[in-house]
Amino acid sequence: MKAVIELKNLTKKYGDFTAVDHVNYTIEEGEIFGLLGPNGAGKTTTILMLLGLIPPTEGTAIVNGADIIEKPLEARRTVGLLPEGAGFYENLNARQNLSFYAELAEVPSVVAKERIEKLIDMVGLGTKRDVKVGAYSRGMKQRLGIAQSLVRDPKILILDEPTQGIDPEGTRDFRELIRMLSKEKRMTIIFTTHVLYEVNKLCDRVAIMKNGTIVGLGTISELRKQVNATEGEDFEDVFLRYQGVV
Ligand SMILES: Nc1ncnc2c1ncn2[C@@H]1O[C@H](COP(=O)(O)OP(=O)(O)OP(=O)(O)O)[C@@H](O)[C@H]1O
Ligand SMILES: [Mg+2]
Repeated sequence: MKAVIELKNLTKKYGDFTAVDHVNYTIEEGEIFGLLGPNGAGKTTTILMLLGLIPPTEGTAIVNGADIIEKPLEARRTVGLLPEGAGFYENLNARQNLSFYAELAEVPSVVAKERIEKLIDMVGLGTKRDVKVGAYSRGMKQRLGIAQSLVRDPKILILDEPTQGIDPEGTRDFRELIRMLSKEKRMTIIFTTHVLYEVNKLCDRVAIMKNGTIVGLGTISELRKQVNATEGEDFEDVFLRYQGVV
C-alpha cells in the first residue's frame, strides 16, 4: 500500500479557537475515505488545508509526495476538488463552464473536449449540456460540480458534501462512479457527508471528527467493534456513540 496523503499534527487556529487540533492519519492510494463529523467539527477546514488554500497554524500534510507548506502548487496539481457550495457561471451552459475550468486547470484543449462530453454524460446531465446553468436545479448543479472536480483527471479527488441536494437515483449513480474511479483508476477519494447510510455503503475507511480532533478512525466494522455495537444498531448509532451523544 502506498500512502498518498499524510496528515502530520495538522492544526488550524482562528485566534484562540482551534478548528483542527493536531490531527494525524494517512490515506492510501485507491482508498475511499469518509470524513465525518457534526457541523463545525473541522472537516472543511481540513480539506482547505490539504489543498493549500488556507495555511495550517501548526503541522503539515504531504499530498502525493508534496508538502502542502513547502510546495502548495505541486500538492494541489494532482487534486480535484468539489468545494462546499460550488459555484458556476450561470450564463454559461455545462459544457462552457467545464471548458472554462479546464482552461484554468491547463488541460490541453483536445483532451478536455472529449473528456468534458464524457463527464457530462457520466453525471447524468447529457440532455442538459446546452442549457444555461442558471436554469439548473440545485441537484443538477451539484452533479456538474462532481464533473468539474474530474476535469483534470486527478490522482486524488476531494469532495465536500458531494450528494447534498442530489436525488436518490443520482446518489446511487454517484456511488457507482466513485467505486469505478477507485477500482479502475486507483483514484484516492476523500469525501465529507452527513448521510451516514452513504458512508456505510461506500467507504473503505472513515475518520470521525469532533471539535477538531479525530475520535474514531478505521473501517466501518472496526469502528463498530470499538464501541461494542450490537447487530441491531446501525452506523448512525455508532456515529453518535463516538460523539458521546448516546
Ligand atoms: N475563517 C474562519 N474564521 C473563524 N472561524 C472559522 C473560520 N472558518 C471556520 N471556522 C470555524 O472552524 C470550525 C470548523 O469549521 P468547518 O467549516 O471546518 O466545519 P465542518 O466540519 O466543515 O462543518 P459543516 O458540517 O457544517 O460543513 C467551526 O467552528 C467554524 O465556525
Ligand atoms: Mg464543511
